[in-house]
Amino acid sequence: MKLNQKEQEMLDGKNGKAAQKAIEILSALGDIFGAEGFIDVKSVQIAGVSYHNLGEAGLEYLENMAEDGKVSVFTTLNPAGMDIQNWKKLGISEEFAQKQLKVVEAFAKMGVKTTCTCTPYLIGNRPNKGDHIAWSESSAVCFANSVLGAYTNREGGPSALASAITGKTPEFGFHLDKNRQAQIEIKVSGKIEKFTDWGALGHAIGDKVGKKIVLITGIEKASEDALKIFSASIATYAGAAIFHIEGITPNKTEKPSESVEITQENLDNSKAFLTDATEIDIVAVGCPHCSLGEMEQIAGLLEGKKVSKEFWICVSREIRDKAAEKGIVEKIEASGAKIACDTCMAVAPLKGRFKGMATNSAKAVFYGRGKNSFKTIFCDLEECVDLAVRK
Ligand code: F3S
Repeated sequence: MKLNQKEQEMLDGKNGKAAQKAIEILSALGDIFGAEGFIDVKSVQIAGVSYHNLGEAGLEYLENMAEDGKVSVFTTLNPAGMDIQNWKKLGISEEFAQKQLKVVEAFAKMGVKTTCTCTPYLIGNRPNKGDHIAWSESSAVCFANSVLGAYTNREGGPSALASAITGKTPEFGFHLDKNRQAQIEIKVSGKIEKFTDWGALGHAIGDKVGKKIVLITGIEKASEDALKIFSASIATYAGAAIFHIEGITPNKTEKPSESVEITQENLDNSKAFLTDATEIDIVAVGCPHCSLGEMEQIAGLLEGKKVSKEFWICVSREIRDKAAEKGIVEKIEASGAKIACDTCMAVAPLKGRFKGMATNSAKAVFYGRGKNSFKTIFCDLEECVDLAVRK
């Protein structure tokens, strides 16, 4: 790694301890991955915010960095382990809450905007095509690279924080055009209309081609919400950090010579795989966090109804507040459903509290099963609401 004068000064400790640690981490990463130097980043999104995942050692690391560390670019956080304001409503213990609040305080002290969301692009942290950024959360990374045309690797919590402090990242991986080209064409002949079709498509691609960068053909249109939920699914089941959809996504790529087909049968098999429960005691939607349009749709579906089970709607605080201004929150809460801001069904400590979860997100299925040992029903939003209100 070649360092310029400013970077060398950071490494020499002239900008303080945290900046020194940060540039050390990034230089080591750059050396490992063969980067020649650093590039400037326009924004950062930091994962590793839930105390559930960080533990005491993680909290201590953040508090040390916060002693003299300050972020130098716009930085937001990934979901935390609880709703930062209304954690009691979601059944979070006092002990966990105090630790989680300390984590958020440490980030705030460093100048991070402590909005905790996996959809930073819906709340102002939205890069332009061609911008280099350092984001962490897998669905957000996939969305930023593929749908927005930004350039980011999938950062770990410490490297993202290091980029936030230095404003830099080593130039390797998905920051280079040559590493963003499609390697295989996916010819979709099955029907892609509902969100569960998009979730199933991500799973089916992972099943067929693993981690190869795909160029998807045969799809005529896709809403931003559909691409949001697809980014989460393909990142989870295919480990993808970027994908291309012919005529829809903005990045240029050559058409690969190799191709495979995803048929209706493949999609049906993926949907069947994602459901293994007959009974559920929680319904959770908003993975990735809901857009305002989704909140509006949920409110419409819940109008005049009462839920009979725990129903979590995961969303960023900003979108929740915008929804409140439009009377959407009031309508949702009148049904007994709970709006979970700053957190989600995967990072909140839910294990043992519930056995079966219905969700419209293929990614939430993966984490519900893996982290919380839930059985799952994978179904569209309308059916999620039906299950939530059914006695
Ligand atoms: Fe976001 Fe949590 Fe899903 S971080 S993508 S809501 S698992």
